[in-house]
Amino acid sequence: MSDALNLQDAPILVIGAGIMGAGIAQVAAQSGHRVMLFDARKGAGAQAKDKVATTLQGLAAKGRMTSEAARETVARVVPVASLAEVREAGVAIEAIVENLEVKRSLLRELEAGMDERCVLASNTSSISITALANGLAHPGRLVGMHFFNPVPLMKLVEVVSGLHTDPAVAHAIFDLAKRWGKVPVHARSTPGFIVNRIARPFYAETLALLNERAGEPSVIDACMRGAGFRMGPCELMDLIGHDTNFAVTQSVYDANFGDKRYSPSLVQRELVEGGWLGRKSGRGFYRYDAGSGPEIASADVSTAALPSATRIVLHGDGVAVERWASALSAAGRGFERASRPTWCGLEADGGQLRLTDGRPAALIAVRENARELALFDLPAATGGGAQGTALAWTASATASVEWQQKTAAWLAAAGWTPQRVVDTPGLVVARTIAMLINEACDAVLQGVCDPEAADAAMKLGVNYPQGPFEWLANWDACEVVRVLDHLDNHYRGERYRVSLDLRRRAWEQEGRSTRSR
Ligand code: NAI
Repeated sequence: MSDALNLQDAPILVIGAGIMGAGIAQVAAQSGHRVMLFDARKGAGAQAKDKVATTLQGLAAKGRMTSEAARETVARVVPVASLAEVREAGVAIEAIVENLEVKRSLLRELEAGMDERCVLASNTSSISITALANGLAHPGRLVGMHFFNPVPLMKLVEVVSGLHTDPAVAHAIFDLAKRWGKVPVHARSTPGFIVNRIARPFYAETLALLNERAGEPSVIDACMRGAGFRMGPCELMDLIGHDTNFAVTQSVYDANFGDKRYSPSLVQRELVEGGWLGRKSGRGFYRYDAGSGPEIASADVSTAALPSATRIVLHGDGVAVERWASALSAAGRGFERASRPTWCGLEADGGQLRLTDGRPAALIAVRENARELALFDLPAATGGGAQGTALAWTASATASVEWQQKTAAWLAAAGWTPQRVVDTPGLVVARTIAMLINEACDAVLQGVCDPEAADAAMKLGVNYPQGPFEWLANWDACEVVRVLDHLDNHYRGERYRVSLDLRRRAWEQEGRSTRSR
């Protein structure tokens, strides 16, 4: 099957007419394919067809398609009662229960009954494509076609190749997904593929912070929204369901032979054990039983003026420094720039307010004899950081109450709503984004995907405001490595080890800046 395959007009067989199968059938039919829909449960195919009809009639009522087109599209979806009726399909996409043995047995049955050229695609979200293909007579024709829920709305499709997958098959499915209006990305079959792997630290870092009692869920969520994420990790885990989210983490952890980088969290396990599964059970990190939704500290836009200071020195550059520079200039206040800055932030009458570098404030205060020390979190470079959004900060135990108050005032004067957290390494956003970048670099190192695919996958599969490599381009590879090395030094485990790919990028950057000096 290595010649170029054209699946453009192929009849499509969808097996499993549940949430995903119905969505896949709709999208295929909307692109003009005849779609056969099979489900082991009697009547499920017809139910799914009714669901597609209701959705399309709704679109027609809103003027998004004509009633005639809706009718014709629905007519292309044909529920079938047995797999014996579907021999002519050019692509069979399975979206049945997430179980290796059940999927394997279905694939063997399909292979026995279908044309040798029929492509077999699996919508599995966690099972190895290599393991599914093992035992097939023609394992090269099996490929992962991982859609996201809800299928008609989510643009991303991970096209997953296992050990046996024929590249021509992966390319044909890639082209087919594109024709269906999706954005396909190639991925190698490894635990979590792209999205479910790179997204792990988004949840894990918050769970680690909660485990250390570093901040309230509402504070962490507000800070992450301030970085441009549509939802904070706590509200998102509540929405996904802690049972589901915990199971995905557990499966990625197990599939990586217990690599501590992917360790599940005791905090989340307790929620699962206690039945606080999130929205669906009325309670997770937040209460939903009164129908009120998450109680999240509202970010009150502060009108704080610039604090008084006799001597102000701005160190380094970045969003916060530039905001202070413009606010000071607009107010006609003088300031200096540090000539050889070793950190980023602001110094006012000896008090320091630094961008976190992954070390706790207490450690810097001792090592650098800086008693009046506060740290602030990584501000969003783009896609967030608007006036009034939350930004985490902390202070060393040696900092005076006056400097702590001034720290909050300086952050407010730059347009943020300051959110105090416990003195924890890498605060909230810096450690999370550094870990997302690290995970993406490791995926690239292992040939799971290329950087462009990682960026597209995270923006389209989980709505991140930027892709990990876009964050990296806006931040600084050496700084990201520094944050992670400090976290690694602090926590001493496998979790924060820096990917060789990220280290290489930092070395290259260091080399470039040495040459340009
Ligand atoms: P679902 O439970 O809504 O639907 C599964 C359907 O498959 C049911 O109608 C069931 O009767 C049928 N089925 C089970 N065993 C069968 C068999 N041997 N032969 C024929 N039909 C059979 O499940 P859902 O959520 O649609 O998931 C389906 C697949 O898609 C799973 O592999 C899941 O991991 C994957 N997936 C799910 C996503 C989600 O958000 N729900 C996202 C991406 C992938």
